[in-house]
Amino acid sequence: MSRQSVSRSASAKPTVSATPVPASAVNNVPKQGEHLFEHDGVKAVIQFAQHNGQWIAEFRFRFRCGPFHSGTLPLTINCGHQANLQNALHDAARRMVHAMATATKGHQLNKRQQKAVDALTLWADQFEPTPTTVPSQPAPQPKRFLDLFSGVGGFHAAMKKTGAVCAGSVELDAAARKTYAENFPGDYVTCDDIRKAVASMFGKVDIVCGGFPCQSFSQAGDGEGFDHKDKGALFFETARLIGDLAPESFILENVEALGTHGDGKTLDTILDILTDLGYAVQTCVLNSGEFGLAQNRLRMFIVGIHDRVLANRTTPFEFPRVAPMHQWWWPTSLGLHPPPSNASSRWSVKRQIQRPAPTASKLWP
Ligand SMILES: C[S@@+](CC[C@H](N)C(=O)[O-])C[C@H]1O[C@@H](n2cnc3c(N)ncnc32)[C@H](O)[C@@H]1O
Repeated sequence: MSRQSVSRSASAKPTVSATPVPASAVNNVPKQGEHLFEHDGVKAVIQFAQHNGQWIAEFRFRFRCGPFHSGTLPLTINCGHQANLQNALHDAARRMVHAMATATKGHQLNKRQQKAVDALTLWADQFEPTPTTVPSQPAPQPKRFLDLFSGVGGFHAAMKKTGAVCAGSVELDAAARKTYAENFPGDYVTCDDIRKAVASMFGKVDIVCGGFPCQSFSQAGDGEGFDHKDKGALFFETARLIGDLAPESFILENVEALGTHGDGKTLDTILDILTDLGYAVQTCVLNSGEFGLAQNRLRMFIVGIHDRVLANRTTPFEFPRVAPMHQWWWPTSLGLHPPPSNASSRWSVKRQIQRPAPTASKLWP
């Protein structure tokens, strides 16, 4: 590097100058140059250069007075390479101040020397990088869930554990609503009948959850299915709200016999409707006893993830790896799999698959 002559000003005030040599044609930043300091016999220089796209900077300084005369280092590419010039200058200035402290350590400096050291330190401070203000990222908003057929709040308890917040709860039974409110006080919309609920009541909803009434699908019930005059149609109300709210995902729960009701046609209808709303839907029968509850209860879970969410996901949803009783798969981009040869004949279910490879079990990415 060709070094420019050091300013020889003899003024009492420090002389600070930068001598760029030659400027980059691209962005007008000098490719190499030096910053000079001179004060009352003390001289310092920080030289900089660009090397293979990186910046290097080195310092030299000299006291002409007192017990020591100089502390100089050659410019070397062994010093820290920096991505930008400001960092390189700062690095050299910091090392210079450190070297000066080491050189003067143990020496009783006279007033003049002390003044020179202070002035040089002050000069070095100018290379402190100005803090760049990184635009603050908005804090991720918690997911908002809508709790349909909320009962006393089984889904609410689970959702709360994940950090999701309740957008609203819908429950017909007054006593259950009272218990729910005591279990989960909060600022959410309540509605007493899903048939009266409309999407606009709840604001943005990311997840819909609900255990729609099961009596008409249950083996212990009347078996009327969708034809039950009160309960049967409540799935369609659920689907209406899912369609209008277009949440990222939903999780519905019902009795395991939903899978066999009407020779599987009831579940077919449910899956057809939910798939037509734009969701990849999977079902799985799980036993609550295997998830820390003091009961032996089989329940079918129906999980849907909206296509727009799946488009950004690298892994499909998978149910928990506690041995599921049965798992059905609705056509998705991953395709259908044939039933395993040991499939139980109890089940007249058409879509049964081997389990997918271990993946995330989260409802959202
Ligand atoms: C299977 S339970 C859900 C239990 C709930 N997951 C819990 O953790 O308590 C079904 C619930 O749906 C409620 N329900 C029945 N008909 C309803 C309707 N038309 N609108 C809203 N809720 C209704 C029932 O009162 C019952 O609490």
